[in-house]
Amino acid sequence: MSMQTTGDRGHWGSRLGFILAASGSAVGLGNIWRFPYITGENGGAAFVFIYLLCVVLIGLPLLINELALGRASGKNPVGAFRGTREGTPFVITGFLCVILCFVVLSYYSVIAGWTIGYALSTVMGKKLVFADFVSNATLMLPLLAVFLGFTALIVQAGVQKGIERWSKILMPLLLLLVLIIIGRSVTLEGAMAGVSYYLKPDFSKLNGEVFLMALGQAFFSLSVGWGLMITYGSYMPKQQNMVSGGVWVAFTDTMVAILGGFMVFPAVFAFGMDPASGPALTFQTLPAVFEKMPAGGLVAVIFFLLLSIAALTSSISMLEVPVSYLLDEKKASRTAAAWIVAGCAFVFGVPSALSNGGSRFFSDMELFGQTGFLNIVDYAFGTILVVVISLLCSVYVGWVWKTRSAIREIAEGAPGFDNGKAVSLAKIWAFFIRFVCPLVIGYVLYQKLFGG
Ligand code: PFF
Repeated sequence: MSMQTTGDRGHWGSRLGFILAASGSAVGLGNIWRFPYITGENGGAAFVFIYLLCVVLIGLPLLINELALGRASGKNPVGAFRGTREGTPFVITGFLCVILCFVVLSYYSVIAGWTIGYALSTVMGKKLVFADFVSNATLMLPLLAVFLGFTALIVQAGVQKGIERWSKILMPLLLLLVLIIIGRSVTLEGAMAGVSYYLKPDFSKLNGEVFLMALGQAFFSLSVGWGLMITYGSYMPKQQNMVSGGVWVAFTDTMVAILGGFMVFPAVFAFGMDPASGPALTFQTLPAVFEKMPAGGLVAVIFFLLLSIAALTSSISMLEVPVSYLLDEKKASRTAAAWIVAGCAFVFGVPSALSNGGSRFFSDMELFGQTGFLNIVDYAFGTILVVVISLLCSVYVGWVWKTRSAIREIAEGAPGFDNGKAVSLAKIWAFFIRFVCPLVIGYVLYQKLFGG
């Protein structure tokens, strides 16, 4: 029943290639910039514990769900819904995925531009004052353009020669750099206070808000709820095992997030800084920490280089979603699609790039309780829409396409998944997709939108 990928859409050259590319998408600013500061704001170890539960119980089943939709249809998110059920109104979910990836790409690239700016300035021995830097439009716009340019170059080269090849180079490099920074961070005097803050849970800090933040962070970090895993699943050959592949991706992503905390907290505590300093933790607090460190200049260069690399393997995946849509549905050429979407993302990214002081209008605008264009789109798209899409995907597969069809797809290449016994992985997975995911996500969404 499933259509195999055809023509020049492309496919992964190897199992490792898929795992590295999908992990490259998952591991990004979300792990190294967002995860530590959200952990810092939400009480440390107790948050980490809830986060792990969200990854295993909600994130992983949905990740496999998306891979199944992608491989069964061999298509981009829009084609995946159309291809698995003709005429379904759920096709709207596919369009939402394409829009979401485009919008988030536009502002994710702004933040990625900051990491390039910090890397370059440390190489040149210049000290950046965060507020001055991000409000400087003559720096923000070229950095945004340069980062999107790199992204388009890789995507233009295609699935195997671009995304897979670069992920194979960049991901091991990234892991190595993470380990170097951790080595430096945990051997600082006074670092253990940070380690214990990070590892000893204080469950009195838990409340509903912490749970919401943990689930939102899991979707952001795993690249689940964006149609990304649908797209990457569509490049997967039938004999590949998507269960073990999915587990590897979730494991790698979670490991790097946890390691991200080991880079940040020991250093922050060793120098008496505040772990709850929010989004500025990476860009303001850490440079101050690096300055006081022996060989801090070198550590700073490595750190910001690492962040740029992590951001790049994620941004290429975000660009790939709208590109695959244009390729499949509009018969565009890969090169044209990559540059047109990146160009549009630049134009749409301008207000975000100017929203930290570059333009009064974009910096001061308020909506949904957020201030500034970047924060507003991050809330509406990166926070709310991703949860809505995850809900729609689980309801669609659970109740419309039916878990039975999905299980047939997943079991190809993963023979142990559906062993026909009373309790099988397939049955547990189906239970989560039909009941647990929709109920938990629906509740979280309700709380987010209507809760106090
Ligand atoms: N998972 C990425 C991160 O943690 O930074 C962000 C991301 C990339 C989300 C690609 C979605 C996506 F399609």
